[in-house]
Amino acid sequence: MVTLDKEQIHQIIHEPGDTNYLTHNFHPYSAKFIPQLPTYLIRSLSSQYEMILDPFCGSGTTLVEAKLLGRRSIGVDIHPLGAFMSRVKSTKIDSAHLSAAAPLLSRIKRRIESHVEHHSETGFSYPIPDFKNRDHWFQPHVLQELSIIKSSIMNEDLSPEFRDFLLLGFSSIIVYVSNQESETRYSSYKKRIPPLHTFQTYRKKISDMVRRMREFNQVASDCEVVSYNADVRKLNFLEDNTIDAIVTSPPYPNTYDYYLYHKQRMNWLDMEWEFLKEVEIGSRLKHSSLGVGIDSYMQDMQKGFEHFRRVLKPDRHLAIIIGDSIIQDDLYKGDDMVSKLSESVGFKILDHIDYDLGLASRSFNRAFRSTDKKEHIILVQNLK
Ligand SMILES: C[S@@+](CC[C@H](N)C(=O)[O-])C[C@H]1O[C@@H](n2cnc3c(N)ncnc32)[C@H](O)[C@@H]1O
Repeated sequence: MVTLDKEQIHQIIHEPGDTNYLTHNFHPYSAKFIPQLPTYLIRSLSSQYEMILDPFCGSGTTLVEAKLLGRRSIGVDIHPLGAFMSRVKSTKIDSAHLSAAAPLLSRIKRRIESHVEHHSETGFSYPIPDFKNRDHWFQPHVLQELSIIKSSIMNEDLSPEFRDFLLLGFSSIIVYVSNQESETRYSSYKKRIPPLHTFQTYRKKISDMVRRMREFNQVASDCEVVSYNADVRKLNFLEDNTIDAIVTSPPYPNTYDYYLYHKQRMNWLDMEWEFLKEVEIGSRLKHSSLGVGIDSYMQDMQKGFEHFRRVLKPDRHLAIIIGDSIIQDDLYKGDDMVSKLSESVGFKILDHIDYDLGLASRSFNRAFRSTDKKEHIILVQNLK
């Protein structure tokens, strides 16, 4: 019987070492796994070339680790930006394409300087996207620089993978150069951003990403990674009995609003986000602002669990990492929630470990980290 090695897991959680290696630092995302955790779970639950599923893949940590470990993988996330970054972070890019980054950055710099000098758009159009409250969130010179960067990425003759890579770097700097206070604080204040600082931030980011992608190319396997922007409740596109292990962490009820933190980024990337208010499971919007109770969370999760049971091969495992939550002053324990869900679909719980919440994910949210709530790793088996 497979069990969780408690000593090793405690070691991983308390002293993980570098959690930002290779492509893991490409883009901020709330409550990312520390990569060492999915690595341990993937190794324990699967063999080379087997198929791993992360049905709440978020920023793609499990997928990157699966690729590094020589497993095939599928990621699913309702968040368009999550699915996008999962794909970019786990896709190798030809070295020749990466070499095009430096000259491209020089051309962008010239375009920005020429634009500032002539106050015109000589021979090049820089459409500034139009979205609600745009001028509240971005200062005029930042808007211009971002527009020139975005237009350059879109109008240059680039491979689709490299274009997406450049767009992800672009997305990663948006909150920093906007008036949004921080990654998880959606209030605004006017930051001091000198001219060209937006471009310089982008150049630094892309240079770092290029270096990291070259390393990733060297060490990652060629196993396929597919990421879907889809709803966990509607996984009908995945076939029965095709997955060798599921390694995942669902949204913890009433903890985050994934749609909200990345709203400005999605405005720039032409991604829809309004629909997320409706379909994001466990959001603070639903549980804190709209007063939705835990039952709705459990019903949504149960639909996901029914698919997990169906797609997972007989006798194989699901490892799920979930935190305790508070909704309207009531505490909901993560292990109880998973027990109920497992029981309802016929999964057998094999093992469980808990520790202080926030240790195994890299949260930006201090309030989230400093509670007494626990986080749980629960191992279940698909006995058919
Ligand atoms: C705890 S995060 C996962 C973080 C991930 N482990 C990582 O390392 O980045 C939970 C994810 O569930 C996603 N999610 C919320 N509702 C969903 C739904 N209905 N279907 C699929 N994913 C959903 C959120 O967008 C979020 O990315």
